[in-house]
Amino acid sequence: MRTPLIAGNWKMNLHRAEAVALAEAVVKAIKADSGKYGKAEAALCPPSVYLDAVAQVVKGSSVALGAQNMYHEANGAFTGELSASMLRDVGCKYVVLGHSERRHILGESNQDVNRKVLTALKGGLSPIVCVGETLQQREAGQTADVVWEQFFGSLAGVSAEQMQQVVIAYEPVWAIGTGKTATPQQAEEVHADLRKILEFRYNTATAQAVRIQYGGSVKPDNAAELLSQKNIDGALVGGASLKAEQFLGILAGA
Ligand code: 13P
Repeated sequence: MRTPLIAGNWKMNLHRAEAVALAEAVVKAIKADSGKYGKAEAALCPPSVYLDAVAQVVKGSSVALGAQNMYHEANGAFTGELSASMLRDVGCKYVVLGHSERRHILGESNQDVNRKVLTALKGGLSPIVCVGETLQQREAGQTADVVWEQFFGSLAGVSAEQMQQVVIAYEPVWAIGTGKTATPQQAEEVHADLRKILEFRYNTATAQAVRIQYGGSVKPDNAAELLSQKNIDGALVGGASLKAEQFLGILAGA
């Protein structure tokens, strides 16, 4: 059985006091009612400057910490970048890699994402690797091809054993921050495809073990139906993760 992962990607939002208060509210609610919120694993991915502050809050709880990005080198003259070992040092378990905002706004290629994935795995982090098509690509019938190319490009050289540590996030670009969610059927179709790709590239055991999250306008009122799909193993949540009650509502839906 795959334990669903509900991860809050806070993106470039909140300041220290708000970040700490949000993490505290989430941790407190999960501790108080593990029957309601404890069926899935929860992770918080704050802006990197607040990782340490949020780490202090989640320490000793079931809530995991994740970063939103990292660099593929171990250390050295890379101004402004963060290494896998630094993220481990502050308590991260996860790192989001290849988010569409980094691919489209900051120009990250599959090869860039791949380097980071391999470095993250070597450094003991679990990468959450994002894939997903634009609206134009969906309308042109290219969704399956795009996801295939991103999968093989971003995960090149990852062994079956390493793949067990990887989480895939299917985030259709047209559904991110737009309020337009993929229907459960649209999402499930791509998730099932990804599961088949995992089987083709690796084996049945790996395909069955790897968690595939859905991301894109997930809210408390659409989470349960999305998460009830056979191949949807959690959610990567943007906007709704900035409000404790909404994030908890999604957790409760898992
Ligand atoms: P929204 O939930 O705001 O659509 O963002 C999704 C996302 O990009 C999570 O990584």
